[in-house]
Amino acid sequence: MNNAMNTDHIAARYLSLFLDKEKNISLKKFAYRINVSGKKRHRVQRLLFEVISHLLTIDTAIKIAANKTSIELSAFKRYKINLLRVGTYRILFDKHEIDKVLGQLEIENSLFRTILLALDFPRGKTIIQDLALRHSFPEWMIETLLEALDADRLNLLLEGLNKRPSAWVAVNIRKSSTEDAKESLEKEGFQVEIDKDFKDALKINRFSKPINKTNAFNKGLILPVSKASIGVIKALDISAGDIILDTCSAPGIKTILMSFYLDETGKIYAVDIDVRRLKRMTKMLRHFGIRNVILIQENARKLKLPVEPNKVLIDAPCTSSGIINVSPDIKWKLKPSDIYFFADIQFDILRNIVSQLIKKGVEADIVYSTCSIFPQENEKLIEKLLTSYLHNLTIEIEDISYIGSNDYYDAYGRRFYPHLHETIGLFLTKLRTKM
Ligand SMILES: C[S@@+](CC[C@H](N)C(=O)[O-])C[C@H]1O[C@@H](n2cnc3c(N)ncnc32)[C@H](O)[C@@H]1O
Repeated sequence: MNNAMNTDHIAARYLSLFLDKEKNISLKKFAYRINVSGKKRHRVQRLLFEVISHLLTIDTAIKIAANKTSIELSAFKRYKINLLRVGTYRILFDKHEIDKVLGQLEIENSLFRTILLALDFPRGKTIIQDLALRHSFPEWMIETLLEALDADRLNLLLEGLNKRPSAWVAVNIRKSSTEDAKESLEKEGFQVEIDKDFKDALKINRFSKPINKTNAFNKGLILPVSKASIGVIKALDISAGDIILDTCSAPGIKTILMSFYLDETGKIYAVDIDVRRLKRMTKMLRHFGIRNVILIQENARKLKLPVEPNKVLIDAPCTSSGIINVSPDIKWKLKPSDIYFFADIQFDILRNIVSQLIKKGVEADIVYSTCSIFPQENEKLIEKLLTSYLHNLTIEIEDISYIGSNDYYDAYGRRFYPHLHETIGLFLTKLRTKM
């Protein structure tokens, strides 16, 4: 892409590439491919994120404006539609003037001008339509979430999911103190603060370069990770000699995080079904010099326990709806049936692991987590496990009230929310098998 072109023009070209040609890749991954240098790269990435986040609102506004002005949208080429989407975003959300927008798009077209002049922020007739258009979410998602949340709470959650989360790094406490890691990043021009909840985590307020180009990362002192993921590992309360089963472990962010709290006597049995993701994990483990992780390629729905662990992490595959604030294309790619597809896998994994622990008489802490916002993959699943499957109560919920929040849903676990914690949406619960 020509770096001399205007940000809006470049963003429209990448939008065409992403929406019309690269349908199978996530926006998070696609953003790395943006071939523009300097600050402009960041601006193009941001604009792509914003337009895809607000796509339903933008497309509805364009459709209504085209109808009002009797302009046939099918006459526009796909690329022109994407220019129009970027321009509409600028007018509806950034409140730019029409002439400025046309200049930024490098286009002088009277039909464009007519449509842009006729734009209004679209409103819905029902609560569902209104929330869907206000925050640009599919109606089925709003309907599903309204089963568990009232409209005011959902409004805040959706607003949070449209904002990019803050960035954190976890400090490798085996190699560095939090203060030393902080100083190292500050020397390289970063602005950081010690997290208010987790004393061995740093919140990054300003970057001077990509984190993987810093001395602290190259020396294995820090791991970039969401705050919510740190919360998951804190809930497991790991100590030196723990024997941990990590059932859905790749690409290994939480495995590495757990290893920071272990010593040479501790071990992690890291299972995943996906060979390619396990290979990526091998590289990461090497980077951090971690030797006490045993990788196992297996299906956790059928896995026979490779060890009698005292700690288990089930960081289950899920709809990833909690990371819409990292990759907003997830909104448009998910289907209602995906929730039930993942809930089946999640329940099978939980049931398989928990029932073997109980049969073998192993007392263990089990942390279950997903980056999904849907109760069907979270609270409702744990309720089903405890009430219908494990009615003989050989398991109980542990107190982790010091992590995340129980606002909104107050049973069976805790949540991290984008609008409350500036991180991804995540559910976690801690169970303990009792003998
Ligand atoms: C949420 S990701 C795990 C992220 C990982 N814990 C981390 O922190 O980097 C879910 C993982 O579950 C794996 N997975 C999906 N189905 C599985 C199954 N039946 N058995 C084991 N792993 C599975 C996926 O390959 C994926 O790597």
